[in-house]
Amino acid sequence: MMTPEEQNFMRKIEAEEKIEPKDWMPDTYRKNLIRQISQHAHSEVIGMQPEGNWITRAPSLRRKAVLLSKVQDEAGHGLYLYSSAETLGISRSEMIEQLQTGKAKYSSIFNYPTLTWADVAAIGWLVDGAAIVNQVSLQRTSYGPYSRGMIRICKEESFHQRQGYEAMLALSKGSPEQKAMAQDALNRFYWPSLMMFGPHDSESAHSQKSMEWKIKRETNDDLRQKFVDQTVKQIEVLGLEHPDKNLQWNEARGHYDSSDLNWDEFWSVINGNGHCNRQRIEHHVAAHEEGEWVRDAISAYNEKKRAKKAQ
Ligand code: ACO
Repeated sequence: MMTPEEQNFMRKIEAEEKIEPKDWMPDTYRKNLIRQISQHAHSEVIGMQPEGNWITRAPSLRRKAVLLSKVQDEAGHGLYLYSSAETLGISRSEMIEQLQTGKAKYSSIFNYPTLTWADVAAIGWLVDGAAIVNQVSLQRTSYGPYSRGMIRICKEESFHQRQGYEAMLALSKGSPEQKAMAQDALNRFYWPSLMMFGPHDSESAHSQKSMEWKIKRETNDDLRQKFVDQTVKQIEVLGLEHPDKNLQWNEARGHYDSSDLNWDEFWSVINGNGHCNRQRIEHHVAAHEEGEWVRDAISAYNEKKRAKKAQ
Protein backbone atom coordinates (compact mmCIF):
# COMPACT_ATOMS: atom_id res chain seq x y z
CA MET A 1 0.00 0.00 0.00
CA MET A 2 1.54 3.31 -1.08
CA THR A 3 1.31 6.38 1.16
CA PRO A 4 -0.26 9.52 -0.40
CA GLU A 5 3.26 10.97 -0.65
CA GLU A 6 4.51 7.93 -2.56
CA GLN A 7 1.47 8.03 -4.81
CA ASN A 8 2.06 11.68 -5.63
CA PHE A 9 5.75 10.99 -6.31
CA MET A 10 4.91 8.12 -8.69
CA ARG A 11 2.23 10.21 -10.40
CA LYS A 12 4.83 12.89 -11.16
CA ILE A 13 7.29 10.31 -12.47
CA GLU A 14 4.66 8.80 -14.75
CA ALA A 15 3.53 12.23 -15.97
CA GLU A 16 7.14 13.18 -16.82
CA GLU A 17 7.08 15.98 -14.26
CA LYS A 18 10.48 16.71 -12.75
CA ILE A 19 11.18 15.99 -9.09
CA GLU A 20 12.63 19.11 -7.48
CA PRO A 21 14.89 19.38 -4.38
CA LYS A 22 12.13 20.34 -1.92
CA ASP A 23 9.65 17.72 -3.17
CA TRP A 24 9.06 14.58 -1.16
CA MET A 25 11.00 11.62 -2.54
CA PRO A 26 11.66 8.08 -1.32
CA ASP A 27 14.88 7.75 0.59
CA THR A 28 16.14 5.10 -1.81
CA TYR A 29 15.51 7.44 -4.78
CA ARG A 30 17.52 10.15 -3.03
CA LYS A 31 20.37 7.75 -2.19
CA ASN A 32 20.52 6.28 -5.66
CA LEU A 33 20.63 9.75 -7.21
CA ILE A 34 23.38 10.91 -4.85
CA ARG A 35 25.36 7.80 -5.78
CA GLN A 36 24.97 8.28 -9.53
CA ILE A 37 25.35 12.07 -9.67
CA SER A 38 28.36 12.14 -7.35
CA GLN A 39 30.10 9.39 -9.31
CA HIS A 40 29.32 11.29 -12.47
CA ALA A 41 30.86 14.43 -10.94
CA HIS A 42 33.95 12.50 -9.84
CA SER A 43 34.34 11.16 -13.39
CA GLU A 44 34.34 14.67 -14.82
CA VAL A 45 36.99 15.81 -12.34
CA ILE A 46 39.25 12.74 -12.50
CA GLY A 47 38.78 12.83 -16.28
CA MET A 48 40.82 16.03 -16.41
CA GLN A 49 44.00 14.11 -15.53
CA PRO A 50 44.65 11.92 -18.60
CA GLU A 51 44.19 14.88 -20.94
CA GLY A 52 45.67 17.53 -18.68
CA ASN A 53 48.81 15.44 -18.93
CA TRP A 54 49.14 16.57 -22.59
CA ILE A 55 48.49 20.32 -22.29
CA THR A 56 52.20 21.15 -22.20
CA ARG A 57 52.90 18.79 -25.10
CA ALA A 58 50.07 19.64 -27.52
CA PRO A 59 51.49 19.74 -31.06
CA SER A 60 50.44 23.34 -31.89
CA LEU A 61 49.19 26.51 -30.22
CA ARG A 62 45.71 25.88 -31.64
CA ARG A 63 45.56 22.34 -30.27
CA LYS A 64 46.82 23.58 -26.92
CA ALA A 65 44.15 26.30 -26.68
CA VAL A 66 41.40 23.84 -27.57
CA LEU A 67 42.66 21.24 -25.09
CA LEU A 68 42.99 23.81 -22.31
CA SER A 69 39.43 24.96 -22.77
CA LYS A 70 38.13 21.38 -22.97
CA VAL A 71 39.83 20.41 -19.71
CA GLN A 72 38.45 23.55 -18.04
CA ASP A 73 34.97 22.61 -19.29
CA GLU A 74 35.30 19.23 -17.56
CA ALA A 75 36.04 21.00 -14.27
CA GLY A 76 32.89 23.07 -14.82
CA HIS A 77 30.85 19.91 -15.46
CA GLY A 78 32.13 18.48 -12.20
CA LEU A 79 31.01 21.64 -10.38
CA TYR A 80 27.48 21.63 -11.88
CA LEU A 81 27.14 17.99 -10.90
CA TYR A 82 28.45 18.44 -7.35
CA SER A 83 25.99 21.33 -6.93
CA SER A 84 23.20 19.16 -8.26
CA ALA A 85 24.05 16.37 -5.78
CA GLU A 86 24.26 18.92 -2.93
CA THR A 87 20.58 19.78 -3.48
CA LEU A 88 19.87 16.23 -2.26
CA GLY A 89 21.46 16.84 1.14
CA ILE A 90 25.07 15.73 0.83
CA SER A 91 28.00 18.12 1.17
CA ARG A 92 30.82 18.53 -1.31
CA SER A 93 33.37 17.53 1.31
CA GLU A 94 31.51 14.27 2.05
CA MET A 95 31.49 13.42 -1.65
CA ILE A 96 35.18 14.17 -1.99
CA GLU A 97 35.95 12.06 1.03
CA GLN A 98 34.01 9.16 -0.51
CA LEU A 99 36.04 9.51 -3.71
CA GLN A 100 39.38 9.70 -1.95
CA THR A 101 38.68 6.73 0.32
CA GLY A 102 37.47 4.55 -2.55
CA LYS A 103 33.83 4.42 -1.35
CA ALA A 104 32.63 6.18 -4.48
CA LYS A 105 33.61 5.17 -7.97
CA TYR A 106 34.43 7.22 -11.05
CA SER A 107 34.34 6.10 -14.66
CA SER A 108 36.64 3.17 -15.44
CA ILE A 109 37.87 4.85 -18.61
CA PHE A 110 40.01 7.35 -16.73
CA ASN A 111 42.23 4.61 -15.36
CA TYR A 112 43.83 4.04 -18.76
CA PRO A 113 47.03 5.96 -19.54
CA THR A 114 47.39 8.49 -22.38
CA LEU A 115 50.58 7.33 -24.06
CA THR A 116 50.57 9.46 -27.22
CA TRP A 117 48.95 12.60 -28.61
CA ALA A 118 46.59 10.36 -30.61
CA ASP A 119 45.19 9.12 -27.29
CA VAL A 120 44.04 12.66 -26.54
CA ALA A 121 42.28 12.75 -29.93
CA ALA A 122 40.74 9.33 -29.28
CA ILE A 123 39.48 10.43 -25.86
CA GLY A 124 37.74 13.47 -27.33
CA TRP A 125 36.18 11.40 -30.08
CA LEU A 126 35.36 8.10 -28.34
CA VAL A 127 35.19 8.88 -24.62
CA ASP A 128 33.30 12.14 -24.95
CA GLY A 129 31.28 10.53 -27.75
CA ALA A 130 30.23 7.69 -25.42
CA ALA A 131 29.56 10.17 -22.62
CA ILE A 132 27.22 12.15 -24.91
CA VAL A 133 25.22 9.07 -25.91
CA ASN A 134 24.59 8.48 -22.21
CA GLN A 135 24.09 12.11 -21.27
CA VAL A 136 21.64 12.93 -24.07
CA SER A 137 19.48 10.23 -22.57
CA LEU A 138 20.01 11.67 -19.07
CA GLN A 139 18.68 15.07 -20.20
CA ARG A 140 15.28 13.43 -19.62
CA THR A 141 16.17 12.12 -16.16
CA SER A 142 13.44 12.63 -13.57
CA TYR A 143 15.44 14.80 -11.14
CA GLY A 144 15.17 18.46 -12.21
CA PRO A 145 18.63 19.81 -11.27
CA TYR A 146 20.39 16.78 -12.84
CA SER A 147 18.33 17.03 -16.01
CA ARG A 148 19.00 20.75 -16.45
CA GLY A 149 22.71 20.25 -15.78
CA MET A 150 22.81 17.59 -18.49
CA ILE A 151 21.38 19.93 -21.11
CA ARG A 152 24.21 22.39 -20.64
CA ILE A 153 26.86 19.69 -20.33
CA CYS A 154 25.75 18.01 -23.57
CA LYS A 155 26.28 21.23 -25.53
CA GLU A 156 29.87 21.41 -24.34
CA GLU A 157 30.49 17.68 -24.78
CA SER A 158 29.46 17.97 -28.44
CA PHE A 159 32.28 20.44 -28.99
CA HIS A 160 34.66 18.08 -27.18
CA GLN A 161 33.67 15.18 -29.37
CA ARG A 162 34.05 17.23 -32.57
CA GLN A 163 37.49 18.53 -31.64
CA GLY A 164 38.63 14.97 -30.85
CA TYR A 165 37.34 13.62 -34.13
CA GLU A 166 38.93 16.48 -36.04
CA ALA A 167 42.29 15.81 -34.36
CA MET A 168 41.92 12.11 -35.16
CA LEU A 169 41.10 12.95 -38.81
CA ALA A 170 44.26 15.06 -39.09
CA LEU A 171 46.35 12.14 -37.83
CA SER A 172 44.67 9.48 -39.90
CA LYS A 173 45.14 11.55 -43.08
CA GLY A 174 48.71 12.46 -42.12
CA SER A 175 52.00 10.58 -42.49
CA PRO A 176 52.09 6.75 -42.20
CA GLU A 177 53.51 7.17 -38.68
CA GLN A 178 50.65 9.48 -37.68
CA LYS A 179 48.08 7.10 -39.15
CA ALA A 180 49.64 4.19 -37.24
CA MET A 181 49.49 6.25 -34.06
CA ALA A 182 45.78 6.95 -34.66
CA GLN A 183 45.09 3.26 -35.27
CA ASP A 184 46.94 2.28 -32.11
CA ALA A 185 44.93 4.80 -30.03
CA LEU A 186 41.69 3.52 -31.56
CA ASN A 187 42.66 -0.09 -30.78
CA ARG A 188 43.40 0.75 -27.15
CA PHE A 189 40.51 3.13 -26.40
CA TYR A 190 37.68 1.43 -28.32
CA TRP A 191 37.01 -1.38 -25.80
CA PRO A 192 37.33 0.67 -22.60
CA SER A 193 34.94 3.24 -24.18
CA LEU A 194 32.33 0.51 -24.57
CA MET A 195 32.86 -0.38 -20.89
CA MET A 196 31.83 3.16 -19.91
CA PHE A 197 28.20 2.09 -20.35
CA GLY A 198 28.50 -0.30 -17.41
CA PRO A 199 27.90 -4.03 -17.03
CA HIS A 200 25.34 -5.97 -19.08
CA ASP A 201 21.77 -5.18 -18.04
CA SER A 202 21.54 -8.63 -16.46
CA GLU A 203 24.49 -7.74 -14.17
CA SER A 204 23.48 -4.15 -13.46
CA ALA A 205 22.54 -3.80 -9.79
CA HIS A 206 20.82 -0.44 -10.07
CA SER A 207 19.23 -0.44 -13.53
CA GLN A 208 15.84 -1.87 -12.70
CA LYS A 209 14.99 0.64 -9.99
CA SER A 210 16.68 3.52 -11.85
CA MET A 211 14.61 2.81 -14.95
CA GLU A 212 11.40 2.57 -12.92
CA TRP A 213 12.10 5.95 -11.36
CA LYS A 214 13.30 7.38 -14.69
CA ILE A 215 16.67 8.29 -13.22
CA LYS A 216 18.02 6.32 -16.19
CA ARG A 217 16.00 6.48 -19.39
CA GLU A 218 17.79 3.78 -21.40
CA THR A 219 19.62 0.69 -20.26
CA ASN A 220 23.38 0.12 -20.29
CA ASP A 221 23.20 -2.36 -23.19
CA ASP A 222 20.86 -0.20 -25.31
CA LEU A 223 23.11 2.83 -24.96
CA ARG A 224 26.21 0.76 -25.70
CA GLN A 225 24.55 -0.57 -28.86
CA LYS A 226 23.78 3.00 -30.01
CA PHE A 227 27.43 3.89 -29.59
CA VAL A 228 28.66 0.76 -31.43
CA ASP A 229 26.31 1.54 -34.34
CA GLN A 230 27.24 5.21 -34.66
CA THR A 231 30.99 4.57 -34.47
CA VAL A 232 31.20 2.19 -37.46
CA LYS A 233 30.78 4.91 -40.09
CA GLN A 234 33.10 7.28 -38.21
CA ILE A 235 35.89 4.69 -38.32
CA GLU A 236 35.28 4.20 -42.04
CA VAL A 237 35.60 7.93 -42.71
CA LEU A 238 38.90 7.97 -40.83
CA GLY A 239 40.11 5.15 -43.08
CA LEU A 240 41.11 3.09 -40.04
CA GLU A 241 40.52 -0.57 -39.32
CA HIS A 242 37.71 -1.45 -36.95
CA PRO A 243 39.19 -3.05 -33.81
CA ASP A 244 36.33 -5.54 -33.57
CA LYS A 245 36.95 -8.31 -36.09
CA ASN A 246 33.56 -9.92 -35.29
CA LEU A 247 31.55 -6.80 -36.07
CA GLN A 248 28.68 -7.67 -38.39
CA TRP A 249 25.48 -5.97 -39.52
CA ASN A 250 22.43 -7.85 -38.32
CA GLU A 251 19.56 -7.10 -40.69
CA ALA A 252 16.92 -8.65 -38.43
CA ARG A 253 17.93 -6.57 -35.40
CA GLY A 254 18.76 -3.46 -37.37
CA HIS A 255 22.02 -3.18 -35.39
CA TYR A 256 25.61 -4.33 -35.51
CA ASP A 257 26.49 -7.51 -33.65
CA SER A 258 29.82 -7.18 -31.86
CA SER A 259 32.26 -9.11 -29.68
CA ASP A 260 31.55 -9.36 -25.98
CA LEU A 261 33.79 -7.26 -23.75
CA ASN A 262 36.49 -8.45 -21.41
CA TRP A 263 34.38 -8.27 -18.25
CA ASP A 264 37.21 -9.47 -16.01
CA GLU A 265 39.14 -6.39 -17.07
CA PHE A 266 36.07 -4.18 -16.43
CA TRP A 267 35.49 -5.45 -12.87
CA SER A 268 39.19 -5.35 -12.11
CA VAL A 269 39.46 -1.70 -13.22
CA ILE A 270 36.36 -0.53 -11.34
CA ASN A 271 37.58 -2.32 -8.24
CA GLY A 272 40.78 -0.29 -8.17
CA ASN A 273 43.23 -2.41 -10.17
CA GLY A 274 43.47 -0.53 -13.46
CA HIS A 275 46.73 0.91 -14.81
CA CYS A 276 46.28 4.32 -13.23
CA ASN A 277 43.79 4.00 -10.32
CA ARG A 278 46.35 4.69 -7.61
CA GLN A 279 47.99 7.51 -9.50
CA ARG A 280 44.63 9.23 -10.22
CA ILE A 281 43.58 9.26 -6.57
CA GLU A 282 47.04 10.24 -5.28
CA HIS A 283 47.03 13.19 -7.68
CA HIS A 284 43.53 14.19 -6.57
CA VAL A 285 44.52 14.05 -2.89
CA ALA A 286 47.66 16.13 -3.51
CA ALA A 287 45.75 18.78 -5.49
CA HIS A 288 43.04 18.88 -2.82
CA GLU A 289 45.58 19.36 -0.03
CA GLU A 290 47.39 22.06 -1.97
CA GLY A 291 44.10 23.91 -2.36
CA GLU A 292 43.29 23.90 1.33
CA TRP A 293 44.45 27.47 1.88
CA VAL A 294 42.03 28.67 -0.82
CA ARG A 295 39.09 26.95 0.89
CA ASP A 296 40.20 28.36 4.26
CA ALA A 297 40.48 31.85 2.81
CA ILE A 298 36.98 31.66 1.31
CA SER A 299 35.51 30.45 4.61
CA ALA A 300 37.29 33.23 6.55
CA TYR A 301 36.07 35.85 4.07
CA ASN A 302 32.48 34.58 4.27
CA GLU A 303 32.68 34.57 8.05
CA LYS A 304 33.90 38.17 8.01
CA LYS A 305 31.06 39.19 5.70
CA ARG A 306 28.49 37.45 7.91
CA ALA A 307 29.87 39.14 11.05
CA LYS A 308 29.74 42.55 9.34
CA LYS A 309 26.13 42.02 8.29
CA ALA A 310 25.15 41.00 11.81
CA GLN A 311 26.58 44.24 13.30
N1 ACO B 1 33.09 2.77 -14.45
C1 ACO B 1 33.07 2.71 -13.09
N2 ACO B 1 32.04 2.15 -12.41
C2 ACO B 1 31.01 1.67 -13.13
C3 ACO B 1 30.98 1.72 -14.53
C4 ACO B 1 32.07 2.30 -15.19
N3 ACO B 1 32.14 2.38 -16.52
N4 ACO B 1 29.82 1.15 -14.94
C5 ACO B 1 29.16 0.75 -13.84
N5 ACO B 1 29.90 1.06 -12.75
C6 ACO B 1 29.58 0.75 -11.36
C7 ACO B 1 28.32 1.46 -10.88
O1 ACO B 1 28.63 2.78 -10.46
C8 ACO B 1 27.87 0.54 -9.78
O2 ACO B 1 28.72 0.73 -8.64
P1 ACO B 1 28.17 1.18 -7.18
O3 ACO B 1 27.03 0.27 -6.85
O4 ACO B 1 29.36 1.03 -6.30
O5 ACO B 1 27.73 2.60 -7.29
C9 ACO B 1 28.21 -0.82 -10.32
O6 ACO B 1 29.26 -0.62 -11.26
C10 ACO B 1 27.04 -1.55 -10.98
O7 ACO B 1 26.67 -0.91 -12.20
P2 ACO B 1 25.16 -0.45 -12.55
O8 ACO B 1 24.20 -1.09 -11.60
O9 ACO B 1 24.91 -0.67 -13.98
O10 ACO B 1 25.26 1.10 -12.20
P3 ACO B 1 24.39 2.30 -12.75
O11 ACO B 1 22.94 1.93 -12.84
O12 ACO B 1 24.74 3.49 -11.95
O13 ACO B 1 24.89 2.50 -14.28
C11 ACO B 1 26.23 4.17 -15.43
C12 ACO B 1 26.21 2.90 -14.55
C13 ACO B 1 25.63 3.82 -16.78
C14 ACO B 1 27.66 4.64 -15.58
C15 ACO B 1 25.33 5.24 -14.73
O14 ACO B 1 25.75 5.44 -13.39
C16 ACO B 1 25.33 6.56 -15.42
O15 ACO B 1 24.69 6.74 -16.44
N6 ACO B 1 26.02 7.56 -14.84
C17 ACO B 1 26.03 8.90 -15.32
C18 ACO B 1 26.99 9.10 -16.44
C19 ACO B 1 28.42 8.97 -15.99
O16 ACO B 1 28.74 8.84 -14.83
N7 ACO B 1 29.33 9.02 -16.92
C20 ACO B 1 30.74 8.92 -16.59
C21 ACO B 1 31.58 9.27 -17.72
S1 ACO B 1 31.21 10.87 -18.27
C22 ACO B 1 32.67 11.64 -18.63
O17 ACO B 1 33.16 11.55 -19.68
C23 ACO B 1 33.28 12.41 -17.59
